[in-house]
Amino acid sequence: MEKSSMNLQESHSAYRHLPRTYAACGETEFSVRMAEWVLVRISENRPAESQFHVLDLACGVGAAAEIFALNGYQVTGIDSSEEMLMEARRRTGSSLVEWIKQDMRQLNVAGHADFVTCMYDALNFMTTVDDLSAVFGRVATVLRCGGLFIFDMYTIRGLAETWGSRCEIHTDRADFFVVSQTEWNSEASINTKTLHGFERDGACWRRWIERHVIRAYPMEVIWAALEKNNFHVLDVSEWTGAEARPLRPETTRLLFTSKRL
Ligand SMILES: C[S@@+](CC[C@H](N)C(=O)[O-])C[C@H]1O[C@@H](n2cnc3c(N)ncnc32)[C@H](O)[C@@H]1O
Repeated sequence: MEKSSMNLQESHSAYRHLPRTYAACGETEFSVRMAEWVLVRISENRPAESQFHVLDLACGVGAAAEIFALNGYQVTGIDSSEEMLMEARRRTGSSLVEWIKQDMRQLNVAGHADFVTCMYDALNFMTTVDDLSAVFGRVATVLRCGGLFIFDMYTIRGLAETWGSRCEIHTDRADFFVVSQTEWNSEASINTKTLHGFERDGACWRRWIERHVIRAYPMEVIWAALEKNNFHVLDVSEWTGAEARPLRPETTRLLFTSKRL
């Protein structure tokens, strides 16, 4: 049997290794569906005369940003992961969307955005109320008055049930194998996902580990942080993955639509 060597690369920053297979594993389906829904909201709020600037926070590999751009909007995609942005550039190019590497807690872009989105539980990566509030504060600074901010977040129940505490195969490909181990801390409403990856590199296997730590908040906490930062909450619904529905006790994902005052 052929022996192959293995190197271990340990990294705690999320989305260093996953971007390579993010789209191939269907992870972009979520934001594609949400972007299509959001497009309807945007067109209702679009000023007829000007070019409409959309900012997609934590844009990942850029699936939603690309859809907005293909529909004629001026789009900026922001993400803190260089690897996600490299994949976004590889998939979409650099002429359609402006890609910026930035931590959304320090969001700073030139000019004003007309509309801001943040999809696929990216705001759950804010593990303190102060961080969540800092993002809302930065969005309030870059979003024009009257502009909409739309985002989804896991509920506490959603994070407890969807991620839970378990070990399972995340990706199973001939050259890329990932095992995911989640640990739910109910006191802190924090879930820590450790991804153990094995990636073929010629005759060698590269082994890596990365951690995703995300936190869920009661709806009222998110709502209060928005109001504190000059947003008026227009609507909170359940996002089913395809459409917005009225909230239920079983809701696992909130969809916030708020307006900059
Ligand atoms: C679950 S992915 C969602 C990506 C994309 N919105 C989508 O729908 O496919 C979470 C994204 O949040 C980004 N992210 C996490 N913390 C961030 C931060 N502080 N600032 C900017 N981006 C961040 C990650 O790099 C990752 O791309």
